[in-house]
Amino acid sequence: MRAKIIGTGSYLPPKIVTNNDLAKTVETSDEWIRERTGIEERRVTDENTATSDLAVEAAKKALSAARLSPEEIDLIIVCTCTPDMLFPSTACILQDKLGIKNAAAFDLSAACSGFNFGLAVASGLIENGAYKNILLVGADTLTKYLDWTDRGTCILFGDGAGAVVLTATDKEEGVLRSYLKAEGLFGKYLVMPGGGSRDPEAKNGRQIRMAGKEVFKFAVRVLEASVEKILEIAKLTPADIDLLIPHQANIRIIDHVAKKMGLSKEKVYVNLQKYGNTSAASIPIALDEALKEGRIKSGDLIVLSGFGAGLTYGANIIQW
Ligand code: ACO
Repeated sequence: MRAKIIGTGSYLPPKIVTNNDLAKTVETSDEWIRERTGIEERRVTDENTATSDLAVEAAKKALSAARLSPEEIDLIIVCTCTPDMLFPSTACILQDKLGIKNAAAFDLSAACSGFNFGLAVASGLIENGAYKNILLVGADTLTKYLDWTDRGTCILFGDGAGAVVLTATDKEEGVLRSYLKAEGLFGKYLVMPGGGSRDPEAKNGRQIRMAGKEVFKFAVRVLEASVEKILEIAKLTPADIDLLIPHQANIRIIDHVAKKMGLSKEKVYVNLQKYGNTSAASIPIALDEALKEGRIKSGDLIVLSGFGAGLTYGANIIQW
């Protein structure tokens, strides 16, 4: 048994914040941000919108594309590090909003690596026969946790949601292999310290703190390593990849890996110029857009790979 994606959807909040908008409040410039990150603009939620509000819109589109009714979903996984609240889980809130009656639901926390981790878990649960139809969502609203005076972080992130519906298939297609890894030793380089049980009143702040250079070095190393590893596990070579969909964090990280792997621009999907880093939503949004732009056809080999806080990383290889 394998798990196959039969529907995708994505949703971005309407408000656009450009690099020039940011340059009005912090010492930066459109030129610097484009050159060092590739980002041109990002989407930002308003104060009345939470992660589940984005997730529900993406999920509705994925369900409609999959032509499944809510009753047919038997598991919901929401990958997020910005849940609506500590509990109930965002997955349970989403379940209620979608009127899904016959499902289990839980959140998965692996920050920007969330979707890759979620896809590995969901496909494993389908492969072992535990579930048939899974709604898997990556959704985050990291802009709510930015220090808008810190030019090293506030330029990078945006909000969004992406969703897929997975179903069981007995053909040799869908998610072929997964590879997940964490290096908790480096967790200190990307932290949101306040709000958890160590500091429930968030005396240490509720804003992202990042050692940008350290995360950059890590990202370059592990993005390449995770693609190499997934190809090795699947007994494939870079030449077999039809499309690489990397986590959309920084164009320099993506370009480095593409060059090392010998992948041409046509074989690497990039949309970070429009949305910045949307954390767990970045890969499912990119997957949805790549499909809609005709960049993926039946039988293609797609590699999804990324990294995030933890520090975590991983990859999945899909035969479309
Ligand atoms: N505008 C103008 N100048 C800036 C800005 C800015 N927005 N940010 C930093 N600078 C300055 C610095 O102060 C520094 O000045 P100095 O030389 O006078 O000290 C100079 O530019 C160079 O700074 P660096 O930090 O070396 O810049 P770098 O090229 O490394 O780019 C960046 C910084 C973009 C943050 C990069 O390190 C990066 O992308 N890191 C990875 C971040 C990432 O991907 N995080 C997401 C992880 S996923 C998750 O789970 C959330």
